[in-house]
Amino acid sequence: MGKIAKLVIDGKTYELPIVTGTEGERAIDISNLRKETGLITLDPGYANTGSCESSITFMDGEKGILRYRGIPVEQLAEYSTFVETAYLLINGDLPSAKELNRFSVMLNDHSLVHEDMRAFFENFPRRAHPMGILSSMVNAMRAFYPELPERSDEEEINITFARLLSKVRTMAAISYKISRGHKVVYPRHNLSYCANFLNMMFDSPVRPYIIDQDLVQALEVFWILHADHEQNCSTAAVRLVGSARVNLYAAISAGICALWGPLHGGANQAVIEMLQEIYESGGDPAPFIAKARDPNDPFRLMGFGHRVYKTYDPRALIMKKMCDKVLKKLKRHDPLLDIAKKLEEVAIKDPYFIDHNLYPNVDFYSGIVLRAIGIPLNMFTVMFAIGRLPGWISQWKESLDDPHWKLHRPRQVYIGPKKRDYISKKERGFPV
Ligand code: CMC
Repeated sequence: MGKIAKLVIDGKTYELPIVTGTEGERAIDISNLRKETGLITLDPGYANTGSCESSITFMDGEKGILRYRGIPVEQLAEYSTFVETAYLLINGDLPSAKELNRFSVMLNDHSLVHEDMRAFFENFPRRAHPMGILSSMVNAMRAFYPELPERSDEEEINITFARLLSKVRTMAAISYKISRGHKVVYPRHNLSYCANFLNMMFDSPVRPYIIDQDLVQALEVFWILHADHEQNCSTAAVRLVGSARVNLYAAISAGICALWGPLHGGANQAVIEMLQEIYESGGDPAPFIAKARDPNDPFRLMGFGHRVYKTYDPRALIMKKMCDKVLKKLKRHDPLLDIAKKLEEVAIKDPYFIDHNLYPNVDFYSGIVLRAIGIPLNMFTVMFAIGRLPGWISQWKESLDDPHWKLHRPRQVYIGPKKRDYISKKERGFPV
């Protein structure tokens, strides 16, 4: 008999099973709660709610641990590539040389975007945000490419995943080129996933792009660090929308929309905007920290705080080192990095930030790396989205194979008016 929790309601005791994960994390299984007691739980923002069991990513927010399929993210950032990490997330284990080669060939084979889709890109207003364009285009993919039917064979599933991973990257680069009114650059078969992206973004007939392996490496690490983060807002959106058995493209498109928000993936753009504002106001972060502390001011320090991490986000540590490395390599100085470091130094000693467990998250330093690579500010969240794709895909796949799978449909506690009658238009003074 496993462990149980006891719940007493109106003098009656109910027993609820306790589920323990492989890393010792415990949860009370309330799946029969309403059936047995007539009650539901209330948990705004789902901060205490586990929506599924998952074997993909492990996080310990108190200790600052992040592992994909058991492997620490620090090791993946040091030794792996984004493509290999994507394979690991989707398939569960690191690939053999043959498997990795096959996966890379597939990504190359599916990297082109249907030429008819070009018309879509060209008709978005030039100032449209690339996240809006990307979510629309991913949803539109269903019109151009086959849906994954239930009980598809492994080959069909792998092709669909490769199609998404490869084409989303190409679409991101196309939208950038079109937004600038420049000629689109096609993917090249002899370039790696990351190098190909940089080339599609920055190569031009008048100024050929010289691929710098250090920048390619920085991008590999950036994308590895963003590849999955268990049940975050956008992944939960993919699982929720996917639970209606909608096609994969629509589910991923929903994830992109969720990621767009400044409290989630949009924070990487918001951080740079905030650092720029501090820079333009003389470089002193103190007034911004005071604003963030003020309970009457809705301002938040962007790139600080996390729902799960109550200590330094392990990804932010790697990203901070990456900023120094990339800027040193480029022999460039970024005053925003100085401001970010100064801000962090003051904030982490501030009682408000200590009491609230607010530390830099992944977005705090990532924008400095993207700026150094040459990525424009409005493309930052798109970069996050490309990185998060393997996570969304693997979580969607896991939810499909889950024997306990159910349509996601939360309940609520209704606090609106009690039953009342319709008042006729005449009584409300409408002209007859
Ligand atoms: N600046 C100032 N105060 C903050 C901040 C912040 N960045 N974050 C949280 N707080 C305070 C908040 O005001 C509240 O204070 P009090 O209890 O006194 O009212 C308390 O901390 C708890 O806030 P919460 O919103 O209930 O906590 P949460 O777990 O929902 O917050 C968060 C998570 C990420 C939404 C929040 O920390 C935040 O808004 N951060 C800034 C945006 C940001 O950097 N987002 C990127 C997250 S990491 C990348 C990703 O996974 O998407």
